Amino acid sequence: MLPLLHLRQSCALFLSSWYRLSCVCIFLLLFQSQKCSADRIFDLENFQMLSNYDKRAVIVNKMGAAIRDSIHRRNERIQSRRPRKEICYDKVGCFSIPRRSVAPFGKKTPQSPEDIDTKFWLLTRENPTEPQFLKYSDDKISIKSSHFNVSRPTKFIAHGFKGSGKDRGAWNIVEALLEIEDVNVILVDWEKGAAGPSYALAATNTQIIGRQLALLILDMVSFGADPQDIHIVGFSLGAHVAGYAGRGVQNKGFKIGRITGLDPASPLFRQLLATSLVSLNSGDAHYVDVIHSDGARHWSEGLGLFEAIGHSDYFPNGGLDQPGCEHKKNAVLVSHLEGTMNSSVVCNHIRAWKLFYESLKMSKQEDGCKFFAFHCPGGLKSFKLGTCFPQRCVENSPDGSCGMMGYGSEESKARGALYLVTRDTAPYCGNLSISDLRVDGLAVISSAYAEANEGARYAVLWKEKGKKQFLVK
Ligand SMILES: *[C@@H]1O[C@H](CO)[C@@H](O)[C@H](O)[C@H]1NC(C)=O
Ligand SMILES: *[C@@H]1O[C@H](CO)[C@@H](O)[C@H](O)[C@H]1NC(C)=O
Ligand SMILES: *[C@@H]1O[C@H](CO)[C@@H](O)[C@H](O)[C@H]1NC(C)=O
Repeated sequence: MLPLLHLRQSCALFLSSWYRLSCVCIFLLLFQSQKCSADRIFDLENFQMLSNYDKRAVIVNKMGAAIRDSIHRRNERIQSRRPRKEICYDKVGCFSIPRRSVAPFGKKTPQSPEDIDTKFWLLTRENPTEPQFLKYSDDKISIKSSHFNVSRPTKFIAHGFKGSGKDRGAWNIVEALLEIEDVNVILVDWEKGAAGPSYALAATNTQIIGRQLALLILDMVSFGADPQDIHIVGFSLGAHVAGYAGRGVQNKGFKIGRITGLDPASPLFRQLLATSLVSLNSGDAHYVDVIHSDGARHWSEGLGLFEAIGHSDYFPNGGLDQPGCEHKKNAVLVSHLEGTMNSSVVCNHIRAWKLFYESLKMSKQEDGCKFFAFHCPGGLKSFKLGTCFPQRCVENSPDGSCGMMGYGSEESKARGALYLVTRDTAPYCGNLSISDLRVDGLAVISSAYAEANEGARYAVLWKEKGKKQFLVK
């Protein structure tokens, strides 16, 4: 009797955190009960008269009830003991403070809006180089007195960790956007919140930047802008800023048109962790497209998310490593994150940004090269084996046979995980073709070409282990 009760209690406690092992526990309990007087334990007059099968059913039922009860009581105890802690700021609202520190990053709560000093720089064809400052929750005064035009689509650009609105890369995208389309472009500058040295702090700050962005979007919508015409492009942590903004406006009952995530950051956003932040996902906008260029299947493997999280997820060169980047995986991710972003470590990560920029530039050319991408039913494995290729691309085919990575992605009908090959240097785009090329000394299983504009052919040759890239003359 006693050992059984003891077992039952410890089991229930154990289960409340490790429910997956419940089978083991129930089995143990059943085994134990054979040796005890089960009728006393379960207080059933006719327990002995039940068949063994029914006995087991009763025990399992009781066990389930005991576990549920114990979990419920335990949660109540925890909640009464520790009230939910929050930190609140004017206009943007409250953020819960994580109970436990998130190893190895430490416990973090968002900084104050004053400390972060987020800036929204508006650039239009009327003012392509001199930004106008927009403010949220200012009775739309800044919007009204700017070149912001509700009948134009609006594009937001959000940088990542250690980034700034002044970054050359962000401005390149602004210029390209204004050249191809008459749009309102807004650079989200959260330099002080993204500066580090703590990555965890910057990651936590994405929540507050997202809410600020949402407040500005709400002002724009109440000024007459169509939410469907709003597109946020976010790089790394900026992708999660976009996610928080998308969820923020949904609290007010509408959804924005599109979010493009450029290698959304993985550290602290992997949904496996109970304490993780909420990652960008397909619920955040009507269309969410993601470019994965430094995907991490494991904790320390890369800076980007490898999981497909959008409506369409593009995996250039398989999504883990990019050709032309030194093959250097981070044994200790944190030290790199807290170090400089200017190193070969981020080469793969930044490639998503570069690919998007190139797609923008190409989209204004009638015969510009397009990043066609294909479904690969066996995923990364079959991509590497080359069994996904060759595939013919019927552009904008209604069955969505192929996608177009980058700016034009929404026009292509393809959704889901899509794979493609690129060159190792700009221009990254090339004509994809397949050859039976065999190279001495390499066990080439398959190869996919990305044909460069200059006529040089760039080949990615997959070996059984690892890959080799080189130019084919
Ligand atoms: C706003 O944009 C539309 C479309 O581009 C244009 O026709 C209109 O003149 C613009 N309004 C102002 C006030 O600039
Ligand atoms: C990285 O740093 C080196 C030396 O400090 C510099 O020469 C180079 O231009 C930097 N690269 C980028 C992309 O900023
Ligand atoms: C890609 O292939 C098409 C058709 O073969 C050709 O017309 C075009 O010039 C090629 N583009 C590039 C960038 O090589």
